[in-house]
Amino acid sequence: MHSINVLSVSKQEKYEELLPQIEALVSHETNLIANMANVCAALKFNFNWLWVGFYLAIDEELVLGPFQGPVACTRIKKGQGVCGASWQENRSIVVANVHEFPGHIACSSLSNSEIVIPIYTNAKKFLGVLDVDSEELNYFDQIDLKYLELLVNKLFK
Ligand code: SME
Repeated sequence: MHSINVLSVSKQEKYEELLPQIEALVSHETNLIANMANVCAALKFNFNWLWVGFYLAIDEELVLGPFQGPVACTRIKKGQGVCGASWQENRSIVVANVHEFPGHIACSSLSNSEIVIPIYTNAKKFLGVLDVDSEELNYFDQIDLKYLELLVNKLFK
């Protein structure tokens, strides 16, 4: 019976279980890069997404930060692709089908859907974005949006 329960764990239950673990994981470390690296590893290991990583705002560009997955493009300008649009529009963006998103930057031909969450400090300074790619079309939903926003808001202030 136990194995049936494990197999049917919902996405929401996974996030509920994982987020406190991630919080604990990063709570003793103040270095942003180290914490971002562990967040990527924890998310990738648990969700098996194609790509999960951070782009950091440096000198008016997004520069590739810690990530897990295939190699990715290193620099994205404001307004470019999903990441640059999220920065420009100051909002999270869920893309059901990346092939239909104007200007989408295809780092991997295997990616079919994507979610990007902008990260701000308490002082409203823009730090960068969390970007996740899935091989599944229409993978990301309101649950991913809610928990990934919660995650970055709690962790990176
Ligand atoms: N697809 C992103 C670029 C980054 S990769 O997905 C890792 C975009 O359009 O901004």
